[in-house]
Amino acid sequence: MKVSGVVRPPGDKSISHRALLLAALARGRSELTGLLTGEDVKSTARVLRALGVAISPVRDARPVTVQASRLTAPAARLDCGNSGTTARLLLGVLAGQPFRARLTGDASLRRRPMRRVTEPLRTMGAEIKEEHGETLPLTIRGGRLHPLTYVLPVASAQVKSALLLAGLTGNVCVSVREPYRSRDHTERLFVHLGLALSEQDGAVVYAPTGRPRVPGFRLEVPGDASSAAFLIAAAALAEGGELSVENVGVNPTRLGFLVVLERMGVRVERVNLRDAGGEPVADLVVRPASALRATEITAAEVPTLVDEVPILAVVASRVAGAGETVFREVGELRVKESNRLELVAQNLRAVGVAAEAQGNDLHVRGTERPPRGAVDTARDHRLAMAFAVLGTLPGAAVRLSERRSVAISYPAFFRDLRRITADARHRG
Ligand code: S3P
Repeated sequence: MKVSGVVRPPGDKSISHRALLLAALARGRSELTGLLTGEDVKSTARVLRALGVAISPVRDARPVTVQASRLTAPAARLDCGNSGTTARLLLGVLAGQPFRARLTGDASLRRRPMRRVTEPLRTMGAEIKEEHGETLPLTIRGGRLHPLTYVLPVASAQVKSALLLAGLTGNVCVSVREPYRSRDHTERLFVHLGLALSEQDGAVVYAPTGRPRVPGFRLEVPGDASSAAFLIAAAALAEGGELSVENVGVNPTRLGFLVVLERMGVRVERVNLRDAGGEPVADLVVRPASALRATEITAAEVPTLVDEVPILAVVASRVAGAGETVFREVGELRVKESNRLELVAQNLRAVGVAAEAQGNDLHVRGTERPPRGAVDTARDHRLAMAFAVLGTLPGAAVRLSERRSVAISYPAFFRDLRRITADARHRG
């Protein structure tokens, strides 16, 4: 298979959620361009509408306008769908609101741990009522909050962001420290909007200035590096050609997968570097690797590639000379949209690759045998996309249990994947 052409990944999912939430908390009208139109972002828009925010339809190629006023008590429960970011960041926003709201989500989200957010929010003074242990549904009643100084037990941008948003809505100082630095989109957006956020001795500190809410704003959301990763991996595994992936957010806290791919022998050039709303953006030019090398992914790298482990594991399964790639300390993958740690290993084995979860580490051995077999995506978008990329290899026969889940983060994924591989076929 050869690769060619120019593609643009959809808007960044993490930044899209944050842009909508901050626009909902601003004063007046905001205009957001390049917002992701995936289901997860629609979940954030839906719950914000239920809280009284006017948001225009989230559709492709159209700016989204957000007309904020004060948030109001919802008439019904807030359904966060499949989106962990929606649920956790929203809990932070609601911690500073003087009303009650009940949050729920789909079957996958209702299995995911929430105490990592609810515990520090309770310490700040939010009342949170559990129904079945720590998972959704949960009822939160916010109000007057206390300042918080908190050390996160695991690096998590969702937890960090929830606490910073609680500081913003509760008008109190929040200082958070993480074992390793996770994605910093919330921090960058706060700074971009003129909110008093700083870094002090490795802690992220929000200190309210007592000024009224930030005015409405315009923001351009860059393309999602995590979605681009699937196209880049398809190019890395191709037998020849060159692929341009345009308008990709290249925030270093998101680019661990590029660092790892480069270590494995893939060349990715970054051109046309620019800024969009405080985030670095570039076009990426990818050429296939001549021979992929095995590598070890360290615990410190994991937060910078946490969503890319499935696709990196797929790439690692093609390493030459039966080399073994090890992902250290990826236990967090057990509590993503699915148990990604077990399912990546299980599905690789199902297509003929030696792969195993050992404790919190994932081991993958390279093979030259074409991947063949049935893959259970567990309706997890990133598993579906990772194994679809594996299915582009010559001689591959990879059957996915479903493909619809890609709509969560990359609705046009299969069209784009076909385009970059089919264009090359037409040109011989
Ligand atoms: C996200 C943070 C990460 C990531 C998720 C999006 C965010 O989760 O896996 O897809 O937008 O803050 P954790 O904070 O749980 O690591």
